[in-house]
Amino acid sequence: VDFDVKDQSLAARGKVRIEWAGAHMPVLAAIRDRFAKEKPLDGLRVAACLHVTTETANLMLALQAGGADVSLCASNPLSTQDDTAAALVEYGIPTFAIKGEDNDTYYKHIDCVLDRDPAITMDDGADLVSVLHKQRVEQMSRIVAGTEETTTGVIRLRQMAADNVLKFPIVAVNDTPTKHLFDNRYGTGQSTLDGITRATNILWAGQHVVIGGYGYGGRGLASRARGLGAQVIVTEVDPVKALEAVMEGFRVMPMIDAARIGDVFITVTGDKDILRREHFEVMKDGAIVANTGHFDVEINKDDLRALTTETREVRDHVVEYLLEDGRKVYLLADGRLVNLAAAEGHPAAVMDMSFADQALTVEWLAKQAGPLKPAVYDVPEDIDREVARLKLQTMGVAIDELTPEQVRYLGSWQEGT
Ligand code: ADE
Repeated sequence: VDFDVKDQSLAARGKVRIEWAGAHMPVLAAIRDRFAKEKPLDGLRVAACLHVTTETANLMLALQAGGADVSLCASNPLSTQDDTAAALVEYGIPTFAIKGEDNDTYYKHIDCVLDRDPAITMDDGADLVSVLHKQRVEQMSRIVAGTEETTTGVIRLRQMAADNVLKFPIVAVNDTPTKHLFDNRYGTGQSTLDGITRATNILWAGQHVVIGGYGYGGRGLASRARGLGAQVIVTEVDPVKALEAVMEGFRVMPMIDAARIGDVFITVTGDKDILRREHFEVMKDGAIVANTGHFDVEINKDDLRALTTETREVRDHVVEYLLEDGRKVYLLADGRLVNLAAAEGHPAAVMDMSFADQALTVEWLAKQAGPLKPAVYDVPEDIDREVARLKLQTMGVAIDELTPEQVRYLGSWQEGT
């Protein structure tokens, strides 16, 4: 197997951790069992650019069980679990990912999976699609379709489709309810606080926590931070989301006002410069800043550096910036996704649904009779319902069914008061 990982001797530890995650991913396990029998992906070449975690490993193994020829590279230079990468190589999956790899290596690893001439791409942040469109144009006619895991990627892909430059079809797995209503909210909420806690060991109770962005990720974070006793402030640009945050009982204000109050700042917007010079200038001494959005652009590091006289690493993933006026600001994980850099990303139980959606979407793509036009597609509703049904079943939760009379009533419009 072709590969580039940190240390092959970590494989044994990776394997038991992959098993542990697998035990919390019953929906994906059921799909893997069926795939092993039916081989719906026989011979299909799939190139995946995802966070290399134990949960992703279980997705790779499910696709492999279905007969796919999968290869994997990282979707972020800091999120790779080196033991997982080593274990995947032992499972026969070409894996190219090293935690802390520099930008050149990151892109070299993307080239490695694309060199395998995939028919299907799987992205978390649209980097495979982007490299294909910018540097590997000749290869795109052989790509049947791709999938996209995250909000940031879907936004870019929809923009590419709107500009008429998207050259192959993509399924927006992120947008299906069993993905974003759960993974983006409960996953981001818990794993981000986990990452910040592991990095800093702060007590959340009593802290003023400022959350930049009240999308699904922001909502999850705000509710979990409140649950730990923090006083939560939300910043937003969208009036509807801002209003929702107010109604949920959070304080809402512009970032320039929140910047003076916050002890901990967490960005989760998908946009750049959420924290910038004007905010760093007024922050309290000792403020902690972290990002959990996809790219490391939400905290303007150049602006922070411009105000800084000295930096030093004070704990793993915590760098102290000593500012000219003597205040200190602590930047976590160099502004990259703190939940994956300083912790392990979302828990397996929630990735179970996201990756079940991914696996069933790849199967759906493999079964298409003819080519789909280049566009961004939704996950078929049947897949979403099937994932929810299986998840409930594995949780031992039964639900009601509509009676025939109820079905008839819902299909009628004549009956009123
Ligand atoms: N994205 C967020 N958490 C993740 C995880 N645990 N594995 C893969 N991708 C993720």
